[in-house]
Amino acid sequence: MFYLWRRSQVPVKQPIKISRIDNLIIFLVCILISIISSYKLLLISPLKIAEIFSWLLTFTEILISCGVLILVSKKENPIISSRQIFLIITLLLAVQVTKLALASTISPLSMIIPPALIISQGMGSITALAWVSIASLIWPDPDIFINNNLFFILLVCASIVSLLGGRIRSRAQLLQLSIFVPIGSFLSQWILIYKDKISLNKQDFALSNGDIFSDSFLLAIAMLFTILFIPIFESIFGLLTKARLLELADKEKPLIRRLSLEAPGTFEHTLLICGLAEEATRMIGGDIDLIKTGALYHDVGKLHAPNWFIENQDGSKNPHDELDDPIKSAEVLQAHVDEGLKFARKNRLPRLIANFIPEHQGTLKMGYFFQKAKEKNLDINEYYFRYKGPIPQSKETAILMLADGCEAALRAMNINASDKEALETISNIIYSRKKDGQLDDSNLSKGEIFLIKRAFLNVWKRIRHRRIQYPTSKNNTFS
Ligand SMILES: [Fe+2]
Ligand SMILES: [Fe+2]
Repeated sequence: MFYLWRRSQVPVKQPIKISRIDNLIIFLVCILISIISSYKLLLISPLKIAEIFSWLLTFTEILISCGVLILVSKKENPIISSRQIFLIITLLLAVQVTKLALASTISPLSMIIPPALIISQGMGSITALAWVSIASLIWPDPDIFINNNLFFILLVCASIVSLLGGRIRSRAQLLQLSIFVPIGSFLSQWILIYKDKISLNKQDFALSNGDIFSDSFLLAIAMLFTILFIPIFESIFGLLTKARLLELADKEKPLIRRLSLEAPGTFEHTLLICGLAEEATRMIGGDIDLIKTGALYHDVGKLHAPNWFIENQDGSKNPHDELDDPIKSAEVLQAHVDEGLKFARKNRLPRLIANFIPEHQGTLKMGYFFQKAKEKNLDINEYYFRYKGPIPQSKETAILMLADGCEAALRAMNINASDKEALETISNIIYSRKKDGQLDDSNLSKGEIFLIKRAFLNVWKRIRHRRIQYPTSKNNTFS
């Protein structure tokens, strides 16, 4: 638990502000949950002061629990949106409403475990565990008796799903979970409840017929349906699950395929940046899957005019020379950010991935065209030659900006250059970005910048190693 918590807190991210209206809606849903979970205490007649006090206590307890749940989710995911908090709370409300309607016929296993899977996938294990604790805490109803052993099994299964759900990286693993958890619950129910024939009576099971097999079967069906609907939750609530990230990182995705065919130079540049950014993120303990996918899409905007970018030119003619207007050239460069964001919207890329598109350029100066413009007019305003930003708002987007800056310089370096020379080149580029204020909002510490430099150097050493040709035998045969 402690390890998971620490992993979720690094790198430090800027929390997202939630509007007053959203806060109010979330608060009202919490009130509704508290009322639904406690109103039965007021139905006892004759109503005495003690009962009202007990209701007030339960109501407050549930309201505070909802607050704690929101706090934990915000702590684990500083960039959580109001929609996602709304999802967590609505799932809690749905469980309470279903309990009221179906508690005597449906198992708590099928009600609590599937939402735990959605939350752990989208918001992390700690939030899912907090959700499970609170959903279980407010599950017991004065009208329905539930076996303690069943409750114990529920907690164990839901905790397993919460812990594993946050780490699962593919849909296949999700399917395995949805098969093995119901099997586990069936076996444990059989051992802990069914075999205990003395205490066996129909009410010991949440299902009216007390059939533990159909109970576990229902759980399996509920989990399978949840897996089926997770992509819909992803798009409605903007959840970014590991499986979704890995799917987006597939190089066979149409947008990436287009990049490799229409802008091969940009595609090569992207692949090298992925390597640099991944290594640096690993060094500082950031989200590797996020940066790999973000890096893959950072320059998709160049698809609007591939041959206007140096990496896609074959050296014959440069359209910027024909245009001979530095301001217009700067507009073409800015367009790769604007068009990239349009591509992101059209392809429904999650916001966290789309953020890499403007933030990797920040408000950097297009030095080459600025100098050209200055040759023509000394008083030209620098404003026209700066990207519109924003500057990197997270450590991941800042790393991508640094990798983007270092990539060309490292690729162009002499094969015989020493490690010291490579490190100097990297340091100069990073220093210029830092001095320009591009890293101000990223929270990168001095120590982390040092680690990023080492990571870039390691990748460069790997590239250099690949480029050194091995001696081959005369007849080119290998054993
Ligand atoms: Fe770019
Ligand atoms: Fe780039």
